[in-house]
Formats: sequence, structure tokens, C-alpha cells
Amino acid sequence: MLACVRSAAVYGIEAAPVTIEVDVAFGLPGFTVVGLPDASVKESRDRIKSAIRNSGFTFPGHRVIVNLAPADVRKAGSSFDLPIALGVLAASGVISRRDIDDVLVLGELSLDGAIQAARGVLPVAAAARARRFKGLLLPHANSREAAVVSGLDFYPVRSLTEAVDAINRPVPVPLATEPDGDLTEAVHGDFADVRGQLLARRALEIAAAGGHNVLLTGPPGSGKTMMARRTAGILPPLTFDEALEVTAIHSVAGLLPNGRGLLRARPFRAPHHTISDIALVGGGSIPRPGEISLAHHGVLFLDEMPEFSRHVLEVLRQPLEDGMVRIARAQRTCEFPARFVLIGAMNPCPCGYFGDERRPCRCTPQQIARYDSRLSGPLRDRIDLTVGVSALPPADLTGEGSGESTSAIRARVEAARLRQRARTATTGTAVNARLPPRVLRRVCALDSAAHRLLVRAAERFELSARAYDRVLRVSRTIADLAGAEAVGSQHVGEALQFR
Ligand SMILES: Nc1ncnc2c1ncn2[C@@H]1O[C@H](COP(=O)(O)OP(=O)(O)O)[C@@H](O)[C@H]1O
Ligand SMILES: [Mg+2]
Repeated sequence: MLACVRSAAVYGIEAAPVTIEVDVAFGLPGFTVVGLPDASVKESRDRIKSAIRNSGFTFPGHRVIVNLAPADVRKAGSSFDLPIALGVLAASGVISRRDIDDVLVLGELSLDGAIQAARGVLPVAAAARARRFKGLLLPHANSREAAVVSGLDFYPVRSLTEAVDAINRPVPVPLATEPDGDLTEAVHGDFADVRGQLLARRALEIAAAGGHNVLLTGPPGSGKTMMARRTAGILPPLTFDEALEVTAIHSVAGLLPNGRGLLRARPFRAPHHTISDIALVGGGSIPRPGEISLAHHGVLFLDEMPEFSRHVLEVLRQPLEDGMVRIARAQRTCEFPARFVLIGAMNPCPCGYFGDERRPCRCTPQQIARYDSRLSGPLRDRIDLTVGVSALPPADLTGEGSGESTSAIRARVEAARLRQRARTATTGTAVNARLPPRVLRRVCALDSAAHRLLVRAAERFELSARAYDRVLRVSRTIADLAGAEAVGSQHVGEALQFR
């Protein structure tokens, strides 16, 4: 007898429906899965058999054939366990219906029939809604994540037995709407804790306002990591759509904190310098997002940037330019968004104390030059702001913090972003750092003094065309922070400081 269950496969951060047909026919006992299942899906056969038996049902003693359609896309992962098991039970008459075509089903089974949390539940729920399915049968552990999508009947289940009941006697369960997300200050710390470092704070405010990449250079213990983390907090709050995207990426990566719904705080990711290229940009046989996509809409912090392998830094260039990574696979190319503020940090030299007044540097000029050259020209070309950070004198480290709070800085950043949005509304919204050169020239009308200053600087520092554009972008952001319509010489002057 033939049965059919609907499920979905996740590609990138999107999900596409997969129809699972199960035929139980007379013949020698066997269990075959066809329709381009990869090893992980074929492996599920033993789990499904055990789960069915251990839940008190009988696994058919006949020939079981499972077909996954459409056949031209590869199916991977363990979330087809539950729909296949339900298909087998429907085909052998345990379930009262043969066609379970109004709900999408996903979930991984344990041998005892318990249902494990799955990856990518949010994209699957969104796909179910978009394709007008009535409901979603999902692992109970993923309820909060699914609750983000409205307009579906939800059947959260903990075991195969519960899943069978949910099909035989469907009673939708209203999913608890999630509590308010954490305030970004609570997640990333408050800028008020940072003492001194006025220039670096200013650079990070400009970076947040215009979406610029920053390089912080300074000795260990000067607060680089501390300030980078707080920069995620001065970005404007995520919009609902942005939060959906961030949550979907974490969902596909299997990194959604347990029992959490929509992620509300801007991401802050700080991968160690020993990271591989795949872990950084994404990839793998079942493509998974890398750190740069987990940092989407937030901050990617690369501490000790010259210590990253050269190759890893080079693969970063493309996504920095495009705001996304494309991972090509034989069957299908998938894309992960990756628009983040890059904050790099480095010591001024290998020992860390070059230029420090209180401690001698032990490095030779050659060592310093070699260290410095590990960041290639093309990569530096994508960094708009460079700022030196010096260690605070111990006297400044004691006593109360005197800095401005995260919320005060964020208010200015939000205002500056609103100005940018208003200006580029017709050409598609973009932060200053991502404006195409053509639009950049148009929105950066310089007054004559500013123009003269920039031309003189370009001659004196032999600015490349790229570097010239960079100064222009940063000037535009500084003017936006000041609420100025036109870019003046004081804005260009400040931008030139951060080269
Ligand atoms: N400007 C600062 N204001 C307040 N505390 C600071 C500052 N700079 C450093 N610290 C203290 O020193 C610690 C180490 O700073 P960190 O950010 O890790 O430095 P870096 O990344 O530059 O090596 C911080 O956790 C903080 O307690
Ligand atoms: Mg550090």
C-alpha cells in the first residue's frame, strides 16, 4: 500500500518541500530509500526500524520502498527520520490516513522513538507558511523557534507515539510566544565600562554608523577586545526581518540556544585565529554557514588578525565585497548572507610593545615588517578605518568609568543610519560603506574647501582611487553623525585621521 508524507530540505537558509512516498509491497523483507538520499539519510533506516519497534508498533515484514521527490536534489541530514517513519506507519495502516499532505513533518528519531531537535526548523516553518500548508509537525524542542512564524497549526511532539496521535487526532497546540529578547547592553556589555580610548571609541561609532570595517592596532590589554564586543551593542536594534534572517542562519547551523525564539541581539562572533577556511566562510558536504554568516547583521571580530593563516584571510575578501558567500555544489548552489562590520585587532609588532612608552619592544625591524605584511594590500583595501590604541596608564584604570553609555552612542548611530536610508531610498537602501561608487559620488557632494583638502591629501599620501573612495565614504558617515547635509572640510579632516 502506498502512503505519502510531506517534509522539507534546507538549502542555505531556505527550505524546499520534499515529498516522501512509502510503498509497502509483498516480497522479501527489505527497506530501500531512493531519490538521491545521501549517506546520512540511508543511515536513518536502522534508526527508523528501532524507533518503530520500540514505540510498540510493528515494522512491516514486507518490502518497504521509500522515494524522496523531487529526485534531482540531494537530501541530507537526519530530519527525514520522522516523516519516513510516519510514512511507513501510514502505508501499513497504523495511521488512519494515507496522504499526510496538509502538514509538513520533520524530526530526528532516537532508537527509543524519542524525537530530537532538528536544524533549520525556522526556514522550514517559513516555507510551510509560504506554500500554504496548514500545519507543521515538529520536534517539541524547536517550538520557540517555530513560534516566530504565524498562521500555521503547530504539532510539537516528543516521541513517535505522540506524532502518530497528532496525525490520527490532530489538536493544534498554541506555541508560547517568546519572552522579550535580551537588551544588547546585557549581551555585549556597556560602552560606559570603557575608560579613555576616545579615538578608538569614535572610530567604532563611525564604523557602526556607516557599516565600515575597522582595524585596531595596539598592545595587549589596551581594551581592543572589550571595545569590539561593545560595538555590536551600538548598532541599531535588529528589525524583525533582520532578526528572522539572523535566527534562520543560527537555526541552520544548529546553534540556536535551546528553547530560544527569535534572536534579538546583534551577533558578535570572535573566531580564534586557528580557524579553518570552511569554518570561517561556510561550506561542507551539507553546506553550513560559517562565522561570517553567523556574524550577519552584527560584528565579526578577528583578534590577532596577522596570526590567521594567509589563505583564510584571502577567502574573506570576496564575501567582504559581496555581503554573502556562494557555496557551489554539484546539485545546487546555495548562498548565505554575510553582511557584518569587520573589526580586526592586531598588536603593533609580534611582542606587542612597539611604540609603548613603558615597556621596551624586543622585535627587530624585519620582524615588525614581516608581521605587518601578513595583512595583504587587497584586504587592507577593504578596511575603511585604522586606529591606534595605546594602553591606559594604570592610574586611569582605577575609579569610576567615565565613558558614554552604549544607549547614548546608539541613538546617534541610529540617527545617522536614518539619514543614509532617506538618501538612498530610491536606489535600494545601503549603508555608506556599501554604496556603489557611482552613488557615492552623488551623495558625497563636497564643498570647495573640503574638495581642496581631499585633493591635497590625495597628492600628499598618494591615495589610490580605492583609498580616495574610502576617505569619501568615511567623511560621508562623519557628516551623517553630525547631521550635516553636505560634507565639509572638518568631516574630511577627521576621516583622514583614520587612515
Ligand atoms: N580602556 C579600558 N577601560 C576599562 N578597562 C580596560 C580598558 N582597557 C583594558 N581594560 C581591562 O583590561 C582587560 C583586557 O582588555 P582586552 O580588551 O582584552 O585588551 P586587548 O584585547 O587589547 O588585549 C579588560 O577586560 C578590562 O578589564
Ligand atoms: Mg584581545
